[in-house]
This record gives sequence, structure tokens and C-alpha cells, in this order.
Amino acid sequence: MVSILTIMGQNKCTGYLAPENFESDLKTELTLLGITILESYGRLFLCEGPAQAVVFAQDTWLDVERLEYNSISNAAELLRLKGHRWSHFSINNHRRGELILEKVPSAKTKIFHFLDSVPTTSIGVFALLSEKEMLVASQTNCPLPFGEIHFHEDKFNPPSRAYLKLWELFTLYQIKPRSGDKVMDVGSCPGGWTWVLQTIGCHVISVDKAPLDARIAALANIEFKQESAFGLRPQHIGKLDWFFSDIICYPDKLYELVTRFRDFGLVDNFACTIKFQAPTDFETMFKFKAIAGSKIFHLSANKHEVTWVNLKAWQ
Ligand SMILES: C[S@@+](CC[C@H](N)C(=O)[O-])C[C@H]1O[C@@H](n2cnc3c(N)ncnc32)[C@H](O)[C@@H]1O
Repeated sequence: MVSILTIMGQNKCTGYLAPENFESDLKTELTLLGITILESYGRLFLCEGPAQAVVFAQDTWLDVERLEYNSISNAAELLRLKGHRWSHFSINNHRRGELILEKVPSAKTKIFHFLDSVPTTSIGVFALLSEKEMLVASQTNCPLPFGEIHFHEDKFNPPSRAYLKLWELFTLYQIKPRSGDKVMDVGSCPGGWTWVLQTIGCHVISVDKAPLDARIAALANIEFKQESAFGLRPQHIGKLDWFFSDIICYPDKLYELVTRFRDFGLVDNFACTIKFQAPTDFETMFKFKAIAGSKIFHLSANKHEVTWVNLKAWQ
């Protein structure tokens, strides 16, 4: 590994923060993308070059600098000069970092409701390496600390916690269907996603081999088909505003299914969970990423899976 001490003397670098327990996936992805890792601190990887779209980075820190400070007040002053709202990522000297955070405008960790507005301005982050040195990025690519969103959960209506993936996509990324849209949700049981889509006014074709939770099946505007999603033919479904999938299947099977619907040309937008066995299938993940108009996120609510989004508006 190249030492960041020398490199950072002249150039700033980029910090990629892995979701908890996904450090090795982030490291592999960075390596496959040809991004040079300079140093790592737990789940933070400091890398050469400008920020790139990296799926297993839940948060990306732009232009990371290494600064010297000589007291808590001095560190706070340096931060205040650089930015507006700060978060503290704890590497070393945790208590000292928290005391610095108390002296600067901070990006508070808030619990959100579904579709609450999320701050639009970027936040900064600092991490103490020692009593004298800190890493500082005045800008990150997410307006929330460490790229994480937390919700007041609905413990009554949804029949599974999978609904949190769509809550996050719709609230944090503001990527969502409009009321009245015709959508299909495949691999829908017990019905968390179908429930979310119904609550925002969509007409939902919900498909699974297993039965839908009875309370969800009884809601208006849900048409349930109990069959395999892999037998579906786009010509029998017709025009769709959105195609959603949370099916448990190998990534290449999902790729085939999505390709069938894309090639037929009757679907405007897609949002699908790509679920991995061990090890992570990076080859297929990159195939999804290469489809024009695509982005892939590792949502806070994603475990060993990522969320592929393909929008007509991005093509
Ligand atoms: C993670 S669960 C989906 C959870 C759902 N999104 C929710 O919000 O409640 C995965 C689903 O994929 C379904 N599944 C697996 N193979 C399938 C197939 N060939 N066709 C349709 N559904 C399938 C399973 O029956 C299971 O209900």
C-alpha cells in the first residue's frame, strides 16, 4: 500500500465508507474498478483519485485532507472555517471527537417518517487519527451522516420489514412512482413492497409463487398472481410505469428476466434487489450497472444484496 502521508501532502484523496460488515465487498469492488487503496481504517478506505460511483460505498467523502490540530478548540475552529454541518466518524480518540463535534454545527442523526423531506445540502465529516491529526472532508455525497437513514418503523401494517428498502429509495433518493402509476411487484410475498406501492396510490400487479398476506391481498388496487415470475411474458402484462423485484434468485436469473422486459420496451422504470449468495457476484452486478440509465445503491436496509435502479429519465 502507498503511504497516504506522502500522497496526501500534495493531493487530496477520496474516502469510501463500507456499510457495516461489507468491508471486504467494498475492498474487492475498489480493486476490480482499478481504484488504488492508500490506507484503510476499519470500514473507511482512503483511495487515490476523484470520487467514482462505487456500489458498496454507503458514503463517499470528497477531497479528504489530513489536518494537524493542537486542541479541541483549534480543531473546531478549523472545521468551522471549512464547512457548515459536520458529522464525526470515530476512528481514534472518540471522546475528543465528540467534544469537537459539540463545538461545531453538526448534522444531527434524525429518525425520519416515510417521505419526510431530507436535507439537500451536503455535510462534512471528520475523523481523528490521533490527538494531533484528523481526516477532514468538507463534502460527502450524502446529506445524512455516513449515508444512513433511520425511520420510525410501522410495526403494524406491513407484513415484512422489506418495506424499509422502498421507504429508503423513495424518501432518501426521491426515486418513486407517481400516484396512479401501473406497477408490477415480483417476488412480492408476504407483501411489504406491494403495501408501500399501494399506499402511494399505485395500481399493483403483485406476483409470487407463495400467497400474499391476507390483509394486503384485501387492499384496493392490488391484483395478485400466484405464479412464478420467470414464466411472465411482457406481452401478457402490457405497459408498466415501474417493474419492481425483490425475488430471491441468482443475479443472472434476474438479469434474464429484466432483459426480457426491457427488450420488449413496455416498461419505463425498474427497481430491483440483486441478491447475492456468498461470494458476491460482481460480474453480474457490473452487467446491471452497465445498462444505460442505471444506478446501483447499497441501501441501509440492504443486507447481502444491492438495489439496481433503471429510469427512463436517466437514459
Ligand atoms: C425477500 S422475499 C420478498 C419480500 C417482499 N418484497 C416483501 O416486501 O414482503 C422473496 C420472495 O421471492 C419469492 N420468489 C422466489 N422465487 C420466485 C419466483 N420464481 N417467482 C415469484 N416469486 C418468487 C419468494 O416466494 C419470496 O416471497
